[in-house]
Amino acid sequence: MRKLRSNEVFKPGAFPQHTYVSRMSADFPVTYEFRLEQALQTVGFLTSIIGPSKTGKTVLCEKVIGLDKMISLTGNDFKNSTNFWLTIANKVGLSLVGEQTETNSMQGKGMAGVTESKSSSITEKYQTGKDRVIDFFKEHDLVLVLDDFHTAPEEMQFDMAYQLKDAIRKEFKAIVISLPHRADDAIRKNPDLSGRLSLINIEPWQEAALKEIATTGFKALAVEITDEMANQLARESILSPQLMQSICLNLALLLHVDKDKDEQPHEITDKAQLELAYRVTSINFPYDDVVKKLTAGPPTRGQKRKTYELPSGNQADIYHLIMRAIALDPPIISITIDELKKRIDLLFEEKTDKPDRKKIKDAIEQVQGIISDSDVFYQVFEWKDEQIYILDPIFLFYLRWGVAV
Ligand SMILES: Nc1ncnc2c1ncn2[C@@H]1O[C@H](COP(=O)(O)OP(=O)(O)OP(=O)(O)O)[C@@H](O)[C@H]1O
Ligand SMILES: [Mg+2]
Repeated sequence: MRKLRSNEVFKPGAFPQHTYVSRMSADFPVTYEFRLEQALQTVGFLTSIIGPSKTGKTVLCEKVIGLDKMISLTGNDFKNSTNFWLTIANKVGLSLVGEQTETNSMQGKGMAGVTESKSSSITEKYQTGKDRVIDFFKEHDLVLVLDDFHTAPEEMQFDMAYQLKDAIRKEFKAIVISLPHRADDAIRKNPDLSGRLSLINIEPWQEAALKEIATTGFKALAVEITDEMANQLARESILSPQLMQSICLNLALLLHVDKDKDEQPHEITDKAQLELAYRVTSINFPYDDVVKKLTAGPPTRGQKRKTYELPSGNQADIYHLIMRAIALDPPIISITIDELKKRIDLLFEEKTDKPDRKKIKDAIEQVQGIISDSDVFYQVFEWKDEQIYILDPIFLFYLRWGVAV
């Protein structure tokens, strides 16, 4: 058998055929694949999948439906569209206009004598574009996946729900995918659809499942990895299967596993190997501006901000200290004010001048203000109930490995 290459095994941006991990659905003793299968088998129901960004919603559909049977459109595809069915017909290459012309021309040719074909051509003529699309999907056993539904204009979302309601009764298979907390009201809170929905909520990834990506993948590449190293990778990928795929790919590239085939077998036994891979992985992450903005704090109006002396002799202001504290080991996604104070203390040695709890809290409130006033892209964490909640795990990874704050 041909030896697999690193980029065939680890796929951070596409369907990971060799490292796909099947997870158990939260609270139910079955896998997510089973639940999607069950939903698709339930004739007359619409499937709604909701889950945080990059948790494998699209990949789950690809796994269960298969790429050849899945017709994927995003909410965005309906931005300038007025006709839902025409947009879908275009996607599958079905010409609705063309079919009608053909029917007309048959009549034009005077086929009146052939009663049967005349009546069938008339039926076809009166069949709407919608029915044609539904028939086409049924004939070819296709499933419509409306990805990132929340990106469709709101009025369009309600129209789409209305169209789908009728179509599913006719055994049309469709899945709607959304992020949590984004307007999905058109689907989940739509009274017309109640009792006709299969709901699948994708939960955050646990370390055991993340670890499996690494162990399966390195096995496929014939690379030995110790259990301890695989655990560390799982811990560092902080909820994100995509981050795990990226780190493993970079680790494999750094080990040159695709080259020197006959040389010594490759092994991952050393923390330094992982740390180099983390740094290399963070190179292309686009958080430079975010870090700059958050460490800059609010405008100082010409006054010089107080700085603290770190054991290294460097000076850092409160905003830099907060970011450094968040970046410390272990990576965690909710940090209480007490934990943050402890972490900031750790940055100093013994009895030096360090910020107190109140000073830290005031500064985080300022940072939260900056975040709230910025674009979605900057919403990397949230300060709520005296805790910092990391909203974007890849930002935390970047803070740990990408920059020196
Ligand atoms: N079950 C899985 N097993 C292994 N890797 C996975 C799995 N699910 C997702 N991944 C990895 O994470 C990446 C992102 O997954 P996917 O694009 O499906 O997420 P998503 O939830 O659809 O994200 P978005 O909200 O951005 O649309 C995949 O390309 C793959 O590298
Ligand atoms: Mg997706």
